Amino acid sequence: MNLTFRQLKVFEAVARHLNYTNAAKELHLSQPAVSMQVKQLEEQVSTPLIEKLGKKLYLTEVGLEIQDYACNTLQQLVDLEETIAQMKSMKRGHLKMAVASTANHFVIRLLASFAKVYPRISISLDVTNRSSLLELLEKNECDLVIMGSPPEGHNLQSAPFLENPLVVVSNPHHYLADKKHVSLQELEKEDFVVREQGSGTRSAAKRFFTEHNLKFKTKMNMSNNRAIKHAAEEGLGLAIVSVHTLEIELKAKTLKILNVEGFPIFRNWYVVQREGKRLSPIAKVFNEYILQESDNMMQNFDIPHF
Ligand code: PGA
Repeated sequence: MNLTFRQLKVFEAVARHLNYTNAAKELHLSQPAVSMQVKQLEEQVSTPLIEKLGKKLYLTEVGLEIQDYACNTLQQLVDLEETIAQMKSMKRGHLKMAVASTANHFVIRLLASFAKVYPRISISLDVTNRSSLLELLEKNECDLVIMGSPPEGHNLQSAPFLENPLVVVSNPHHYLADKKHVSLQELEKEDFVVREQGSGTRSAAKRFFTEHNLKFKTKMNMSNNRAIKHAAEEGLGLAIVSVHTLEIELKAKTLKILNVEGFPIFRNWYVVQREGKRLSPIAKVFNEYILQESDNMMQNFDIPHF
């Protein structure tokens, strides 16, 4: 069977009016054109759909069934047109975001202000580490990703929008906490609580120690920033974290940023998408919003410089 949309549309009008002339008027077609479409539809289904008894038209049993389907199909098309129009005008839509665990701290704030401007959109947010983000991009399972510098050769398109300084923190009673300057030799003697394999923060810290020919004594692995900060507060070791994660602890003075040689490690946050990805209207607007809002995102942290 090879029904066309046009045949269904014409048949629906004839079935509703039970009159070829009125259906033709409504569709701005000639009456023979309308009869032809109905005839072709009857040929497709190999059975009559309309019968004429006396002067009146009636739908056959199959005709009634097709009328039902045609009405639903046409209504679905109207709904689809309405949905597309709303998506284009950003009245609705779904934004699929994925962000590095560390970026979560400012991204939620950003999404909240965006959602106020576009209240009828829905958002899903995957918060995970760098290696899982690359997997999501590879599988085309999200619109946009916010992460540290994306690797080369993965067919990604990216734009930096915000600094991401990594700092060394300790419990404020740690013996290094009050030192004006902490040397790399002093740092090397310390135990560190570090993020899990796959974390961008962890790789950047590891790279720093390797580049400076230092031992990196990683005492414990933990899978999120909150646990790492808690461990540092409890004196389990020093930690290297993004300043973006420290708002509460610095205010409450439960952690202190150490003034260590070579720190902060300066990284950037990037907004990333697959090369060639056709972003939905809402994802496009959010992408622009991130870049525009970047100036308001950097809070005033007092980061000591060696
Ligand atoms: P992560 O994020 O340490 O939470 O993975 C930082 C990054 O992507 O560089």
